[in-house]
Amino acid sequence: MEQNMIFTLLSMLCLHINIVASLKSSTNKYALLAFKSQITSDPNNILAKNWSQGTPICNWVGITCGSRHQRVRKLNLADMGVGGTIANEIGELSFLRSLIISNNNFLGFIPDEIGNLSQLREIEMQDNELNGPIPTSFGFLENLHKINLSHNRLYGEVPNRIFNLSFFMAIDLKNNSLSGSLPTNICNNLPNMERLRISCNRISGNIPPSLGTCRELQLLSLAYNNFSGSIPMEIRNLSKLQSLYLEGNNLIGLFKVVFIYINLPKHNVFQKIVKLKNIVNHSHHRYFIHS
Ligand SMILES: *[C@@H]1O[C@H](CO)[C@@H](O)[C@H](O)[C@H]1NC(C)=O
Ligand SMILES: *[C@@H]1O[C@H](CO)[C@@H](O)[C@H](O)[C@H]1NC(C)=O
Ligand SMILES: *[C@@H]1O[C@H](CO)[C@@H](O)[C@H](O)[C@H]1NC(C)=O
Ligand SMILES: *[C@@H]1O[C@H](CO)[C@@H](O)[C@H](O)[C@H]1NC(C)=O
Ligand SMILES: *[C@@H]1O[C@H](CO)[C@@H](O)[C@H](O)[C@H]1NC(C)=O
Ligand SMILES: *[C@@H]1O[C@H](CO)[C@@H](O)[C@H](O)[C@H]1NC(C)=O
Ligand SMILES: *[C@@H]1O[C@H](CO)[C@@H](O)[C@H](O)[C@H]1NC(C)=O
Ligand SMILES: *[C@@H]1O[C@H](CO)[C@@H](O)[C@H](O)[C@H]1NC(C)=O
Repeated sequence: MEQNMIFTLLSMLCLHINIVASLKSSTNKYALLAFKSQITSDPNNILAKNWSQGTPICNWVGITCGSRHQRVRKLNLADMGVGGTIANEIGELSFLRSLIISNNNFLGFIPDEIGNLSQLREIEMQDNELNGPIPTSFGFLENLHKINLSHNRLYGEVPNRIFNLSFFMAIDLKNNSLSGSLPTNICNNLPNMERLRISCNRISGNIPPSLGTCRELQLLSLAYNNFSGSIPMEIRNLSKLQSLYLEGNNLIGLFKVVFIYINLPKHNVFQKIVKLKNIVNHSHHRYFIHS
């Protein structure tokens, strides 16, 4: 039994080395075939049938190439029911702008090599079973606009550097097991940030007052973590805020003051009040409804 398994593993390894050797010439095709080789579950045979060596990669399902040169710009495998680990070779798709593998059964670690894809603008890996840390190499992806890693099993600290990527508009890390605290200067370089969702993790420490300088924020959700201390007054500077979720933490005091100062656009008052009410511990009636 065990010998059989070792033999199988060795054959797989040799096969892998062969693939590596014969395809180095065409980097994008090689990277995609390496990616395919780590897909262990494809119940509808989508990649098995469609990603065939006989057809140009730009005709493969989920692949969009640039118009001038035949390099992969977008990889979109959302909702295809595929599963497996993500091959490190994905980091060789140097022209990739969009990496979308959401709502599948991907597991294992997110490869550090993704941090080599300097043109990447969006990463959507939500609704998988990925674990391990968010690669610190993500902090070098200077063109990132959006990252969604929600509903996975990621742990470790959120790399501080990702909060220094000035094009960011949306960061969603909801429902993982991330720990550590948020950097005090979190919003020093996030002038475009509209949606920041970190709820349902294990983040502790204070809510950084500098969040008040993310002036475009419409959604801020820090709910169900282990934040302590008070809600910073600076949040009242967020005049575009529509949804604020802070419940399920160890926060104290000052709810009234924060609430009064939040500028409520008339048409949205009801929605905001409903959502803001959730911040506070109702048994203390510390919230204040301002209309
Ligand atoms: C692969 O899928 C694409 C897009 O759905 C389709 O145009 C193409 O004909 C398919 N190729 C093969 C070999 O099935
Ligand atoms: C790609 O990323 C890996 C891991 O982060 C790194 O070791 C490697 O040097 C990078 N390669 C290139 C060509 O940048
Ligand atoms: C949280 O993420 C895990 C892993 O993807 C998933 O199984 C679970 O249903 C999610 N929980 C909620 C409440 O969304
Ligand atoms: C943040 O980014 C700016 C440039 O956008 C750079 O000058 C600065 O060193 C970066 N800070 C950190 C902590 O990475
Ligand atoms: C991230 O994905 C989840 C689940 O699909 C979705 O509900 C959420 O709106 C997305 N977040 C952002 C910022 O787009
Ligand atoms: C939450 O934070 C407090 C300190 O503020 C710490 O003592 C406690 O262990 C933390 N709890 C969890 C579950 O991380
Ligand atoms: C932001 O809020 C703080 C504290 O509430 C306040 O002192 C400061 O003047 C505000 N800044 C701006 C630019 O409105
Ligand atoms: C609200 O405060 C009361 C009294 O301190 C406490 O017993 C209760 O557990 C709190 N509820 C929540 C949801 O934090």
